[in-house]
Amino acid sequence: MAGQAEDDITSVLHESRLFKPASEFSKQAHVKSRAAYDRLCRRAEKDPEGFWGGLAEKELVWFKPWKKVLDWKPPFAKWFVGGSTNVAYNCLDRHLEGPRKNKAALIWEGEPGDSRILTYQDLHREVSQFANVLKNKGVKKGDRVAIYMPMIPELAVAMLSCARIGATHSIIFGGFSAAALRDRINDAEAKLVVTADGGHRKGGVITLKEKVDDALKDAPSVETMIVVKRTGNAVKMKKGRDFWWQDEMKGASAVCKAAALNAEHPLFILYTSGTTGKPKGVVHTTGGYLLGTTVTSKWIFDLKEEDTYWCTADIGWVTGHSYIIYGILSNGATSVMYEGVPTYPEADRLWEIVEKYRVNIFYTAPTAIRALSKLGKQWPKKHDLSSLRLLGTVGEPINPEAWMWYHTVIGGGRCPIVDTWWQTETGAIMITPLPGAIPAKPGSATLPFPGIAAEVVNKNGKKVPPNVGGYLVIKRPWPSMLRTVWRNPKRYKETYWSDIPGVYFSGDGARKDKDGYFWIMGRVDDVMNISGHRLGTMEVESALVSHSTVAESAVVGTPDEIKGTAICAFVTLELGQKPSEALRKKLKAHVTKEIGAIARPDQIRFTDNLPKTRSGKIMRRLLRDIAAGRESVGDTSTLEDYTVLAKLRHDEES
Ligand code: WT7
Repeated sequence: MAGQAEDDITSVLHESRLFKPASEFSKQAHVKSRAAYDRLCRRAEKDPEGFWGGLAEKELVWFKPWKKVLDWKPPFAKWFVGGSTNVAYNCLDRHLEGPRKNKAALIWEGEPGDSRILTYQDLHREVSQFANVLKNKGVKKGDRVAIYMPMIPELAVAMLSCARIGATHSIIFGGFSAAALRDRINDAEAKLVVTADGGHRKGGVITLKEKVDDALKDAPSVETMIVVKRTGNAVKMKKGRDFWWQDEMKGASAVCKAAALNAEHPLFILYTSGTTGKPKGVVHTTGGYLLGTTVTSKWIFDLKEEDTYWCTADIGWVTGHSYIIYGILSNGATSVMYEGVPTYPEADRLWEIVEKYRVNIFYTAPTAIRALSKLGKQWPKKHDLSSLRLLGTVGEPINPEAWMWYHTVIGGGRCPIVDTWWQTETGAIMITPLPGAIPAKPGSATLPFPGIAAEVVNKNGKKVPPNVGGYLVIKRPWPSMLRTVWRNPKRYKETYWSDIPGVYFSGDGARKDKDGYFWIMGRVDDVMNISGHRLGTMEVESALVSHSTVAESAVVGTPDEIKGTAICAFVTLELGQKPSEALRKKLKAHVTKEIGAIARPDQIRFTDNLPKTRSGKIMRRLLRDIAAGRESVGDTSTLEDYTVLAKLRHDEES
């Protein structure tokens, strides 16, 4: 926590509309009523281990039963102790025994309009083959494999292959820079990298292999690189280190038994931003993660055998891990995967895909909804969207206007909307309506998933009264929780289990209304939410000060109509350096090079000084107010140099 006053998180949203699920929807839903939801919650409350243990038995295949559901030595949890299973087995093999064998597991659409459909049998074959390729290259259980790929089927194959043999994958979003990639590879000490020559994006080609080459100049743990030929752009292959995916697959056997893995075996590491300059490697394990993603997928998306489900996230983020691949395939459902941007070749691409594959369930981010709604309803109106029966959002609070547009223009007024709150760390959705049971209020993620002990508390961990802002915490361990920060249990403990006594602190502020509905109010730490993606202010600051002209910088988020939050950087230059438009451009490009385009500041403001407290702490609240053009109402009594403030207000970027 950044030590902010609790009155900082006062809520201004007051939305009172209530949207009840249609009775036809409720009748067919997995969870059909508020009463049924309440029963599940009571059961979980009374006997959490019985509740999760029962579900684990019912929803997953185990090779060996567990001895104990939970071993909780705060803040370290082990779930399904002694049990053994395999995530790839649950996502693939178990579906081959019946009619799902020839059902589409993945429906993939490339940006140029090419497409591939992989049945469960097809996907199983490719995963087994690639698992053998990994083994042939010396990858063993417990080794880390870095994956840096466009949204192509081989990405799904690569991750499931790791899961099959017990290699721990670390997927790095394709938008990250070579430097960011290198840091993540080094932190995890990956032995092998899977990438592609490039990917199609906005009608052009983004290069990937080139960036890996760059990263590997300083990544000694990597022995092998496997490269999918996707775009055909020229790449250099280093003999003995680099191999084409297509060549390796040709000779690979399609027989590879799924390894029996301990329930706590690390399935993946996923890096996420925190309040320091160094991203954290969030560790998820096997049994609990799979249970969390499987059950939430089934109840929240109300998955049925005949559904076509589409989540538009990139697999480089946790949403793609949990709700394009693991949770969805574990249920034997059909998952749509799309390579490109929503506006290529035109603004109706998403709606065209919905129509083409008769998508029934559609899950996306508020930032996408806002951007697409701005382009006008003529685009969705060109398409038959009547197949849709359920909509979802994730990543940031959705403003009621965007919610209403989604509901009426996309959902035709008939689809429930699930606003799902969760995090990289939680692994699975935590606060959400169950669509047949819980009426929605636009802008609220509604109620905790059964078994999730979410609460809004003050700094001392005491529950706050209705409609009073506080900190969003989880009071009990849950199966899909992160287990630690990769090779840094101390940071795990300090980040999540120290600020507020005895509970997991999410970093978000929230309030609960009189009906117990949760209203998420955003981060209360020095983390921004840019287009639904988390980014630490410190990370951008470190990138800026790594430029030779920069002496000091402070980065804050400022409200943005489409992105939710835009990045504003206050920069103090080294003595003798002059502010200029050219330097502004250079600095923006430098941040893109250091982290990636998502971190590129929208504004850079040069300043001679930054406002600081007497103890030297940068007063971010003041900077936030200045960036947003608000007059500062906060306490400035400790401000070191009062004149700095007035100057900053005037030095706005032109
Ligand atoms: C942060 C987690 C989890 C997948 C995507 C982001 C914000 C997430 C919601 C929501 C309001 C939300 C929170 C959270 N957030 N979902 N439905 N309503 N805020 O994953 O990068 O780990 O970010 O996203 O601030 O802490 P992430």
